[in-house]
Amino acid sequence: MTLHSVKRKKYGKDQKRQVKEPVDYNEALFQSEFAAFSIEEVPRHELRSHSMPASVALSLIKQELELDGNPALNLASFVSTRYEDEVRQLCDHVLSVNWIDFDEYPQTVDIHNRCVSMIAHLFHAPVGEAEEGVGTGTVGSSEAIMLAVLAMKWRWRKARRAAGKDASRPNMVMGSEVQVCWEKAMMYFDVEPKYVPLHDDVYVMEPERALELCDENTIGVCGILGTTYTGEFEDIERLDALLTKKNKETGWDIGIHVDAASGGFVAPFVYPNLKWDFALRNVRSINVSGHKYGLAPPGIGWVLWRSAEYLPDELVFHVNYLGADQASFTLNFSRGSAQIIASYYLLLRLGRSGYTTVMRTLKELAEYFADAIVASGRFYLLSDRKSLPLVAFAMPDEDRERVGFDEYALAAELRKRGWIVPAYTLAPKLEHRKLLRVVVRIGFTRDRAEMLLQDIDHTYNHLQHIAGVMRVAQQSIESGAVKASLPPESHHAATGVGKTSGAGDLLEELTADFKHALHAVSARNTRNDTKKNAREHVEVPQKPRVVLGHNGKKTKRSGAVC
Ligand SMILES: Cc1ncc(COP(=O)(O)O)c(C=O)c1O
Repeated sequence: MTLHSVKRKKYGKDQKRQVKEPVDYNEALFQSEFAAFSIEEVPRHELRSHSMPASVALSLIKQELELDGNPALNLASFVSTRYEDEVRQLCDHVLSVNWIDFDEYPQTVDIHNRCVSMIAHLFHAPVGEAEEGVGTGTVGSSEAIMLAVLAMKWRWRKARRAAGKDASRPNMVMGSEVQVCWEKAMMYFDVEPKYVPLHDDVYVMEPERALELCDENTIGVCGILGTTYTGEFEDIERLDALLTKKNKETGWDIGIHVDAASGGFVAPFVYPNLKWDFALRNVRSINVSGHKYGLAPPGIGWVLWRSAEYLPDELVFHVNYLGADQASFTLNFSRGSAQIIASYYLLLRLGRSGYTTVMRTLKELAEYFADAIVASGRFYLLSDRKSLPLVAFAMPDEDRERVGFDEYALAAELRKRGWIVPAYTLAPKLEHRKLLRVVVRIGFTRDRAEMLLQDIDHTYNHLQHIAGVMRVAQQSIESGAVKASLPPESHHAATGVGKTSGAGDLLEELTADFKHALHAVSARNTRNDTKKNAREHVEVPQKPRVVLGHNGKKTKRSGAVC
């Protein structure tokens, strides 16, 4: 008996079994707990009637999350995505610690206070060497900004009431490029926002224009250290000088809040001589996101006040902790403490030299990337060199029409390769300006920059090719060489299987891309004509649009993300 025949005999037996009991044949594959649940519906709206094994729930959720974008390739976000193992270990270690239980977790409170003090000193708060700073940890810069707005409003209102003046119409002055959380803060706390409009080639608030909007009801002016749109720093030193003069002339007492969500952990290390923080007399409060360039995991921000004078005592809730007074000023009560502990780890581990090395390296990488983008000859920069480590770039207006696509099409195409590079429009008044933005964070390397540049180049060429063939298709339709509304048989034409009457020999010469493009343009024409004609009951041929990209829909605020 040959080996072969032995095998055949054995397998023959198995095969017989398989026909009878097909599930048994795949027994090994279906042995896991997860497999047993593989054909079950996963609940979306209601609780399941029964529990499921932990490993199954874990696998189901992990599998679903695989559909999310890859955080490492998410160049849209300022929020950190890479952490040392020690950060993960610490987060796990304090997973069950509720930050608000001051009495039970005094060391956690102490660590929090140390973070506040270190950041206050970093931002030149006028506190003595061994003195604590005034501030608190928050969920992010948004909560920090809400608390700062409340403090400014309360302080202004108290002063107005004390002077017997109307305190019912507070306003705050800010550039129209503020992040959306400012709109929320203004609405939630009933403060009128006075936006300084941007204009062409100026993407940040101009201090002189801000001063023009100030009046006796102004609770403060917001200065941004690194705007969400282009990463540019506003001129806070100039704003401070102008406010000093204005306050002196008018007797007002208008201070500055600096939104340093991203810039707070960049400027002190990359531009140590830049004046933007408490070193300036009128800067009264500052917010910074610990989870952005602070490098901590998502869920931590900080708000600092120049001194206790600028944080009205009525807003602070006092908790008596082991005989000592523990102050609390937050919007919510319970929250995890992992991000606070992770922030302390980072401050302790990196120190000044560590943060300096990281931030300078990121800035250098951003400059390398910016230089290459400009050298491609296809884009110009909107980000300033003296800014956050990010690159905001756009296509020249005349190119968009010429090549037949825009930044939105590029972003969508890059997404297919896994890159998340957002396209958005600038702040109100400059909404016609489209741009792309790459935020350089830890994990972005020279190698990654090269890969992205290569993919941008390929994507650009590919879109240009597609837009080109669509344009030829459109021209063919317009010139009558091809019927404007291809009948269903045009599928044959588009796939090269048959011909449409009236298409002539031209179709023979079309490339595969052209045929698809022709079909797409034609189908769109037919759809548009049908819709329009149905509405207006007249025969109006609709011109196809061949610019690929933004659908022109207006959103309240553009797609700049944080
Ligand atoms: C300038 C600025 N302020 C505030 C925020 C809100 O920060 P967070 O996401 O930490 O709440 C962002 C987010 O990107 C920002 O860029």
